[in-house]
Amino acid sequence: MAKRTAKLILTEPDTVIDLPVYGGSLGHDVIDVRALVSKGVFTYDPGFMSTAACESAITFIDGAQGVLMHRGYPIEQLAAQSNYVELCYLLLFGELPTPEAYRQFEARIRNHTMVHGQIANFFQGFRRDAHPMAILCGVVGGLAAFYHDHLDTADSEDRLISAIRLVAKMPTIAAMSYKYALGQPFRQPRNDLSYAENFLHMMFSTPCEPYEVNPVFAKALDRILMLHADHEQNASTSTVRLAGSTGANPFACISAGIAALWGPAHGGANEAVLDMLEQIGDDSEANIQRFIDKAKDRNDPFRLMGFGHRVYSSFDPRARVMKETCDQVLAELGNPDDPTLRIAKRVEQIALEDDYFIQRKLYPNVDFYSGIILRAMGIPTNMFTVIFAVARTIGWISHWNEMIDGDLKIGRPRQLYVGPPRRNYPD
Ligand code: SDX
Repeated sequence: MAKRTAKLILTEPDTVIDLPVYGGSLGHDVIDVRALVSKGVFTYDPGFMSTAACESAITFIDGAQGVLMHRGYPIEQLAAQSNYVELCYLLLFGELPTPEAYRQFEARIRNHTMVHGQIANFFQGFRRDAHPMAILCGVVGGLAAFYHDHLDTADSEDRLISAIRLVAKMPTIAAMSYKYALGQPFRQPRNDLSYAENFLHMMFSTPCEPYEVNPVFAKALDRILMLHADHEQNASTSTVRLAGSTGANPFACISAGIAALWGPAHGGANEAVLDMLEQIGDDSEANIQRFIDKAKDRNDPFRLMGFGHRVYSSFDPRARVMKETCDQVLAELGNPDDPTLRIAKRVEQIALEDDYFIQRKLYPNVDFYSGIILRAMGIPTNMFTVIFAVARTIGWISHWNEMIDGDLKIGRPRQLYVGPPRRNYPD
């Protein structure tokens, strides 16, 4: 229902086009531009910086205020009081679960954590030094070959079964990619462990000796999963929505999301932050300033990874929670003076006082501290984006489900054609 009207005036010839303006429950109003095609014009918005591609009730971000809410609940409250499995329920169904609903949902996920025995054969085709994100893309896309019994995307129960399978199996596949690189045997999930505990067990336990999950690490990992669970229409979620709009199966859509997340400008930034901090090497003022100056130099490709965000023009609220978690994990390890953290804190302090970053509203984002925590927990750098993908799977599949449950249209953007006019093939 339009709340007001936008008038677009085109000259040559003079034309006035009335465009309906819709308002949501929070945030920006939107101008419905669909009538423009009939007037012979498209909108033009490379990078979709000012385009609302859909309606959604899942996540709200206010970039100027540094607000992130899932189904109306602020991320700070969820991180402090909830857990990842409960957040999965909230994102998927829209409300917090009753204790009984939570028990049933958690049990369903627990009972789908194993993967088909033949999936282990997939891994044999990869080199041992394959990047685990490459393995994840391939294996997750291949799940459709094993779970084609419930792929009717028009059936809400089929969509829920696929969502449960994906959320349940991602940690198992992720841990298998790590074990495969080490040449260690895959570890089966255990039903007596929580979601985060199970992942750490599958990552670090071996058949040779008992393995006790560190509760501080499990809590920190659960919080990291929550902070990465969903983030509105980011690049990978938009990829999942576009793939899903064609009717592609959910495993193929999530595999496409994993591929998009891998880019260093997106989910690959957490790995790039650690590489950057190691490249900086020491926390001397002069050395850090040299790298800050490189980041400011338009002619230098060096970027301050973990800084800046397409939407947040203030602190990413997730970065604040991540920084607290970082201090907790390092304190647990008895080395709050981790050199990489020291460099990170100095980089942050210097950058936040520098006009270049202030003017461009560049602040630390979710990726700035997450890598330091994960590395402190013994997780290798090339697994950081894998963990981001594990966490984001619930966001991707919740958006996929919301889209299919709504007014589904195949996504098909247009273009401004700047190629050659019609010409004939030479005789
Ligand atoms: C994630 O969309 C999401 O929600 C993503 C995410 C999620 O949860 O899904 O939040 C996860 O992807 C977080 C972002 C992780 N990426 C990084 O940390 C990589 C480093 N950041 C930059 O690449 C950049 O800030 C982006 C990609 C995040 C945002 O880029 P934009 O919005 O396209 O901004 P821009 O590149 O146009 O930059 C505007 C200006 C430019 O300078 P000028 O042309 O004005 O001189 O800011 C500069 C840029 O050069 N700039 C940086 C910078 N980021 C932007 N300069 C130095 N270091 C940086 N990190």
